Amino acid sequence: MIRLPNVHTKFKVRSATFRFYLGDSLDVLSRMPPRSVNVIVTSPPYNLGIRYRTYDDTMPRARYLEWTSRWVKLAAQTLGEDGSLFLNVGGKPTDPWTALDVAQAARPFLTLQNTIHWIKSIAIEKALAGARANLDDDLAVGHYKPINSRRFVHDCHEFVFHFSASGETPIDRQAIGVRYQDQSNVGRWRTAASGVRCRGNTWFIPYETIQSREKDRPHPATFPPKLPEMCLRLHGLERARLVADPFLGLGSTAVACAELGVNFIGVEMDEDYLEQAIDRTRSALPPSTLHPERAKRVERVHPEGAKRIEKVRRARAR
Ligand SMILES: C[S@@+](CC[C@H](N)C(=O)[O-])C[C@H]1O[C@@H](n2cnc3c(N)ncnc32)[C@H](O)[C@@H]1O
Repeated sequence: MIRLPNVHTKFKVRSATFRFYLGDSLDVLSRMPPRSVNVIVTSPPYNLGIRYRTYDDTMPRARYLEWTSRWVKLAAQTLGEDGSLFLNVGGKPTDPWTALDVAQAARPFLTLQNTIHWIKSIAIEKALAGARANLDDDLAVGHYKPINSRRFVHDCHEFVFHFSASGETPIDRQAIGVRYQDQSNVGRWRTAASGVRCRGNTWFIPYETIQSREKDRPHPATFPPKLPEMCLRLHGLERARLVADPFLGLGSTAVACAELGVNFIGVEMDEDYLEQAIDRTRSALPPSTLHPERAKRVERVHPEGAKRIEKVRRARAR
């Protein structure tokens, strides 16, 4: 009988269980029961030479894509019939094919159902937005770098490929819908009765501004927890009974699951990142469920979590 390796950390909060594994995700994925996971939200290394603590991000391209095929095949086997794999991949101007090559490597095992663009920064001119947008001025949001290339524009987006087994996994478009600016549409169209329209496939989610990368986000390639949160809501929370992230990093998907109260399983090969991910996940749980000693550690290593705990404490004291 195939068995999962020893779990590094496991905790249960209310009805949700969180399991964290230290090791190789291919090993863990290959030992997971087939069709046991509903949603995978993950971001593998992009092979762009990013400096991780342990992982070497400089494989020859062919070997990297062969490795991608292997982990996607294993991931696909763990997914239920109407499961979803949200696969986040970025690129860099000097290496623009990576994300598309990764999607192609996944193609033999899964169907590409939606292609979402995670927009990290955007500029909107007041004149183009129209009067109804009510802008006082041109708008530029998200982080920008100075103009430093004669060839390339700034890379403001990453892909999130939504794969499923048959391309027919039902999704919950209303769960991440956008309120109609013109509420008269609500009365006019039967499908608009909920008051929201489809968000479409451009999702603007900026990074949180941080003071110190070393202290506040000690990892070179994270996504904001809001990104997995939106993926999970789009898949449909009532059908997201078990969520996995085989490339955990600092645990953004686990944080989203803690906030949403969804069962989670994560794998990370670097112990330091794993510990940070566990602390971040705990700090995203309702503060009343944290053991006081744990809460102290969270305050020490994860200032964002500490701020959240402090806010709840103050609200309770009022
Ligand atoms: C792009 S990062 C993921 C970041 C994560 N989405 C977050 O927001 O924090 C990829 C992570 O995969 C880990 N990793 C690389 N190869 C792995 C493997 N074979 N098994 C487990 N983890 C691995 C790296 O250490 C790195 O932290």
